[in-house]
Amino acid sequence: MRFVNSYLSKIKEYVIKNNLTYSIDTMGCQMNENDSLKYSGILESMGFKEADSKTANLILFNTCCVRENAENTLFGRLGFLKSRKIKEKNVYIVVVGCMSQQKHILDKIKVSYPFVDIVLGTNAMSIFPEKLYNAIINNKKSIEYIEVGNEIEEEVPIKYDDKFKASVSIIYGCNNFCSYCIVPYVRGRERSRTPQDIINDINELAKKGYKEIMLLGQNVNSYGNDFKEDSLKGYTFPKLLKEIEKINGIEIIRFMSPHPKDFSDELIETIKNSKKIARQIHLPLQSGSSKILKEMNRKYTKEKYLEIVEKLKKADKNISFSTDIIVGFPNETEQDFKETLDVVKKVGFDQVYMFIYSKRVGTRAANMTDETKPEEKVNRLERLKSLYEEMLPELNKKMIGKSYKVLVEGKSKNNDKLFTGRTSQNKVVVFEANKQDIGKIKNVEIESEHLWYLKGKIVDD
Ligand code: SAH
Ligand code: SF4
Ligand code: F3S
Repeated sequence: MRFVNSYLSKIKEYVIKNNLTYSIDTMGCQMNENDSLKYSGILESMGFKEADSKTANLILFNTCCVRENAENTLFGRLGFLKSRKIKEKNVYIVVVGCMSQQKHILDKIKVSYPFVDIVLGTNAMSIFPEKLYNAIINNKKSIEYIEVGNEIEEEVPIKYDDKFKASVSIIYGCNNFCSYCIVPYVRGRERSRTPQDIINDINELAKKGYKEIMLLGQNVNSYGNDFKEDSLKGYTFPKLLKEIEKINGIEIIRFMSPHPKDFSDELIETIKNSKKIARQIHLPLQSGSSKILKEMNRKYTKEKYLEIVEKLKKADKNISFSTDIIVGFPNETEQDFKETLDVVKKVGFDQVYMFIYSKRVGTRAANMTDETKPEEKVNRLERLKSLYEEMLPELNKKMIGKSYKVLVEGKSKNNDKLFTGRTSQNKVVVFEANKQDIGKIKNVEIESEHLWYLKGKIVDD
C-alpha cells in the first residue's frame, strides 16, 4: 500500500496560515524512533514546523508498553498538558504507538484524559492525516481501537534527524510470542517489506550521502519468511544483506534485533565475508538458564546461544557483542541467575541492556506464579550490572594500540576540540579532528579507555 494522502494538502493551507508547530515525544525501541521520523515527515508535509514541547501546538506521544513504568510516564505527561489544552487555542494532543493497541489504555484515556484528540495504533500512519484534518478543521476527536492491519505502508514521508546514519525498517511485527512479551500483541504479525522497496530506500539514502544504515525489525533474521509470492519465496535476510552490500556509498551496515533461534550458518558466513556489516552483533540473550529460556518460549538453549557466539568469534575475532537480559522472570532461581552470569562471563558483552521482568497483562507469563521477592530481583540486577562493569575495562583495553575505522559523527559535547564517532564495534571514541572530517570515515588508533568511551588519535595521513 502506497502512502498517498489527499488530506496532506487539504490541511496545509490552514497549518501554514496559523503557523502551527509540532513536537514528538518518543518512548521505546528503535522501531518507534523510526516511526517518529515518519510522523515528523508527515507533519512537515502538512506544513507543521518543529518546536519545543512546551510551546508546540501539536504534541504527539509515540508510546511503548514493553514494561509497565512507561504507562505512568505517559499519564503524567498527559496530565501536565491538561491546563494548556484548556487555556490555549490550537493545541492538539495525539497518542500513537504500542500503548494505543491496548484497550485498557484507551479506556483510561477516555475516562481520565478526554482532552486527548487522537489515539492511533502501530500501523495506522496512512489514516493519520485524515484524523488530524477532522480534529483541526472539524473539531472531531478520534479515540478508538484499531486492529493492527496486515498492510505495509510504503513511501511514507520521513524526516531523518542525522546526516550520515539512517535507520530503515525491513520487517514489522513479531510472530515469536516470547511468554513475557507484549510486542506481538501490539505490533501484529510479521510483515516483510519487499527487497525492492528496501533497496530503493537505501539507494536514495546513499545518494544523499548517508554512510551508515541500521536495518530494523523485532526479528530481522526472520525477514522474508512471510513472502507468499513465487518470485520472493526463499528470499532470506542474508540475501538482503548481500544486496545492500552492493550499494555504493553505504559503508557500514548494522541490524537489530536478530533472534538467536534464527541465526543461521548462512548469516554467519555472510557477516564473515562482508566488508560492510558492522563487527558488532546485538544478540538478545534474555536468560542464561535453559530452563528459563524454555519458560520464556525463546526456542534456544544456553549451549545453542554460546555456540552462535563462538561461531561468530571464529568468523572474526573483532566482533563485539551486545545483548538484552531480563532478570527476575517468574521463579527464576539463584541457580538460574548464576547461569545468566556465566554466559555474561563467557561472552564478554560490550553492552548489556538489562531489565527487571515486568508483568504484562495478556501475555502467558502474566499467569505464572512468582515467588521471588522484588528486593531479590533488584539485587540480581545490581549484581549483573557489577559483573558487566567489572568486565568492560578488560574488553576496552584489548583495543588499545590498534586502529579502527571510525565514522566521525560530530563534536564532542564536553570538549570543543574533540570529536566523537563509533568504531565498527559500536564503541564510542573521542579524538582530535577537524570540522571537515565530520561524515568521513577515519582510521583512529585507540590510546586509552574510560569505561564508556575510548580516546584515540587519527592515524590517516
Ligand atoms: N525483538 C527484540 C526485543 C524487543 S523488546 C528481541 O527479541 O530481542 C526489547 C527488550 O525488552 C527485550 O529484548 C527484553 O529484554 C525486554 N523486555 C521485553 N518484555 C519485557 C518484560 N515483560 N519485562 C522486562 N523486559 C522486557
Ligand atoms: Fe518480544 Fe520475543 Fe518478539 Fe522480541 S522476539 S519482540 S522479545 S516476542
Ligand atoms: Fe516498546 Fe513497542 Fe518497541 S512496546 S519496545 S515501542 S515495539
